[in-house]
Amino acid sequence: MFGYSDLYGGYNGGQAQYVRVPYANFGPRKIADSLTDDQALFLTDIFPTGYTGVMWADLKGGETVAIFGAGPVGSMAAKSAVLHNAKKVIVIDTLQYRLDQIKKLTGCETILWKDAEQTVEQIRDMTDGRGADVCIEAVGFEPERNLLDKAKAVVNFEKGSIKVLDACMSGVKRGGFVSILGVYPMNYDNFRVGQMFDKGITLKAGQSPVHAIIDKLIKYVETGQVKLDDIITHRLSLDDVSKGYEIFDKKEDGCVKVVLDPWK
Ligand SMILES: NC(=O)c1ccc[n+]([C@@H]2O[C@H](COP(=O)([O-])OP(=O)(O)OC[C@H]3O[C@@H](n4cnc5c(N)ncnc54)[C@H](O)[C@@H]3O)[C@@H](O)[C@H]2O)c1
Repeated sequence: MFGYSDLYGGYNGGQAQYVRVPYANFGPRKIADSLTDDQALFLTDIFPTGYTGVMWADLKGGETVAIFGAGPVGSMAAKSAVLHNAKKVIVIDTLQYRLDQIKKLTGCETILWKDAEQTVEQIRDMTDGRGADVCIEAVGFEPERNLLDKAKAVVNFEKGSIKVLDACMSGVKRGGFVSILGVYPMNYDNFRVGQMFDKGITLKAGQSPVHAIIDKLIKYVETGQVKLDDIITHRLSLDDVSKGYEIFDKKEDGCVKVVLDPWK
């Protein structure tokens, strides 16, 4: 996996003018001349990831999908839920500007996260009390955290928090499906195995199997069934890479997705 530490092969990432491509007879795909680089760019990671969360849940059409996180991955999950004919897509985030963007792009409904209980209540209110058919976790182990969350992590010797995952388990209906796209790098105490058993929840997590789905996803973009580059909020040169990471990390300046242009 490129740019993902020694744990995944120690390959450098692609934020450079040129890259050496290992296994070049296997990985790359040819993109139609009709597509711009921007249109194809998100086929490499965030679109396959968002798509995977929906694909795992095997939607038949008509479902309610609640997506936690309106970052690049959550946004792509929302677009993928629309592609799969979900009846209702609800996106949840702590940042209003991100919710506004994804609502404008997909017509989804939104919930501004104040706390887990209120969010779960709102999901139930929006689903006749049943909960969502599918919850997609696109936040990861580092959600916004208050002092109590931080103290709990210290007591449990944990990094970050699983509170968004907890909300997914509570917000999904009985017999529902939870996809975990956000990264959780370690074990956590108090994982809700009792709730999972009681409600009969199916849970799936992991990296997106990009190679298994990429050719299908390229077609979606080529035929215009989905548009990906409309989430770009910033375009910077490689010299400004630190600034790009900073505004993305601190969620400043309305940042959702930064594109680094090596030729700028
Ligand atoms: N599984 C995979 O293959 C794969 C691939 C790429 C990225 N990821 C992971 O997906 C996750 C999301 O990535 P991203 O690029 O969209 O990151 P991001 O940080 O931009 O998005 C996370 C969003 O969650 C929001 N958030 C924080 N606390 C929240 C809460 N309590 N409730 C609801 N929303 C909350 C943030 O405001 C932010 O908008 C990360 O953990 C990333 O590492 C997984």
